[in-house]
Amino acid sequence: MDKQLNILGFVGSLRKGSYNRALLLAAVELLPKEATLEIFDLEGIPPFNQELEARMPEKVKEFKARIRAADAILFATPEHNYSVPGVLKNAIDWASRPYGDNSFEGKPCAIMSASTGMLGGARAQYHLRQILVFLNMHPINKPEVIVTFAGQKIDQQGMLTDETTRKVIKTLLEALVAWTNRLKQ
Ligand SMILES: Cc1cc2nc3c(=O)[nH]c(=O)nc-3n(C[C@H](O)[C@H](O)[C@H](O)COP(=O)(O)O)c2cc1C
Repeated sequence: MDKQLNILGFVGSLRKGSYNRALLLAAVELLPKEATLEIFDLEGIPPFNQELEARMPEKVKEFKARIRAADAILFATPEHNYSVPGVLKNAIDWASRPYGDNSFEGKPCAIMSASTGMLGGARAQYHLRQILVFLNMHPINKPEVIVTFAGQKIDQQGMLTDETTRKVIKTLLEALVAWTNRLKQ
């Protein structure tokens, strides 16, 4: 039997009522039993400054260590101006440094996005995929979890109530676990 997999998730939004955070919280409930999912809060990661690479801020050190310890990464991101939010890009930039110590190197990953609009953050997902090339990560391609009109699918308590979206997240998680086990062989 494959060993228990440890997935690390984070959200490209600091908003308490974030719809993307709600997707990750739903993912915790929908996980296959052979995996765990912990959420790392990006709040407190300072703006990237290359001068600090040699003495990384504590929060960044913790972030890098948590990524390194994870078997797989789960991104949940809004779309800001047709791309990934600065909060997410900033965190990724820190974790990819210093040169030669990219914490994401070789990790399998999956992406979800939610937006209040009709395209569900699809453009941010494709920008994120471009970033993943340089990070040398291995994202799964299907299913695509692109949550349109998020305000109609997530209630005031942050519960994802839309059954179709819950099903596709469950399938995504199953695919991520299978992909991660395959890469480990
Ligand atoms: C600065 C900014 C830019 C945005 N740009 C886009 C965009 O390009 N496409 C889109 O679908 N939604 C855009 N939105 C709306 C977000 O999708 C919406 O605020 C979403 O709920 C944010 O995710 P969150 O709920 O996880 O915080 C933008 C919102 C902000 C604050």
